[in-house]
Amino acid sequence: MTRFDFDRAPERRGTDSQKWQKYAGRDVLPLWVADMDFASAPPILDALRARVDHGVFGYARPTATTSEAVTGALAERHGWKVDPEWIVWLPGLVVGLNVATLAFAGPGEEVLTLTPVYPPFTSAPRNSGRSPVGVPFTLAGGRWEIDWDALERAVTPRTRIFMLCNPHNPLARVWRREELERLGEFCLRHDLVLCSDEIHCDLILDPALRHVPSATLSPELAARTITLMAPSKTYNVPGLGTSLAIIPDAGLRARFNRAAAGIVAEVTCLGFTACEAAYRDGEPWRQELLAYLRGNRDYLLDALPRALPGLKLEAPVEATYLLWMNVAELGVADPAAHFERRGAGLSDGAPFGARPGSHLRLNFGCPRAMLEEAVRRMASGR
Ligand SMILES: Cc1ncc(COP(=O)(O)O)c(C=O)c1O
Repeated sequence: MTRFDFDRAPERRGTDSQKWQKYAGRDVLPLWVADMDFASAPPILDALRARVDHGVFGYARPTATTSEAVTGALAERHGWKVDPEWIVWLPGLVVGLNVATLAFAGPGEEVLTLTPVYPPFTSAPRNSGRSPVGVPFTLAGGRWEIDWDALERAVTPRTRIFMLCNPHNPLARVWRREELERLGEFCLRHDLVLCSDEIHCDLILDPALRHVPSATLSPELAARTITLMAPSKTYNVPGLGTSLAIIPDAGLRARFNRAAAGIVAEVTCLGFTACEAAYRDGEPWRQELLAYLRGNRDYLLDALPRALPGLKLEAPVEATYLLWMNVAELGVADPAAHFERRGAGLSDGAPFGARPGSHLRLNFGCPRAMLEEAVRRMASGR
């Protein structure tokens, strides 16, 4: 029985929504930046209402119940026992990527990652004069695979950090235990800090797959791992700016905190409130969300290639609400602009590291009817 109505979403036109403001005054459906159009989970809304009714919004610190909600969810869902002391609260994960770069690589040193990838993986190193190095994934047998030889060749005496996205944005890939073990061995052998962005870990769509936190693979790997997580994607609260870095090693944690000192804003009282309610009481909503997102994904996997012959969906969508699609054979010079003119606003793949004109990313975290309209528009000649 479903209790939450994902078919109906609040009107976001004319609000503070970054996603919808981009096309203000134009009839373009926004399917780009990664937030969903659904209202957040009812227990989160209730907790926020109660917190607002308290009426005092001073500087905040997490209470024991907030930390327990987080560590409880990590233990229950992923079998990861986290000491609350390991948690560094952050106002965003992109902040975490930037602070990790500052903390663990020096000017001119290199940060290695796998591409295409969420653009801040490569912009964070650039922001502070470090060098991003991207190793392209290969497509083999209908799956995105790591090119292990290329990864080895990309290591230099200046490589300091390996940045992993698990599950992967934009490829929607869940990394398997064996792959993570091999990546862990790679980081140990080359003495790299592993920065593991696991923001999408509670959005695994394939029921046969489980998220494996990098830091659970071995104590040696945990001691060199910064894990970045947040309730933001899963519970649709990114505008509340509440994320966490989990850093088991005290030395790495001290370096991270030193790099963040005085620059990184504190998490707000409303952010802590939402975070606690999400991890403690949000599970029934999350399960129904996953079922709805699976339906959206399956609709698109069926409808898009039929509506747009030439469009290729190259690999399974195992996680996230993001669909990566190959549009190179549609025969249009600038596919993002092309579909925008038709009334569907997708993300251009080039900033993720794709060849210009080859890929687009579509955000399917919205009511099914909006997707149906988007597919109609994408296929239309308007
Ligand atoms: C992999 C990944 N990391 C980080 C973020 C953004 O995190 P935040 O809004 O907390 O900075 C996103 C948002 O799409 C993401 O996909």
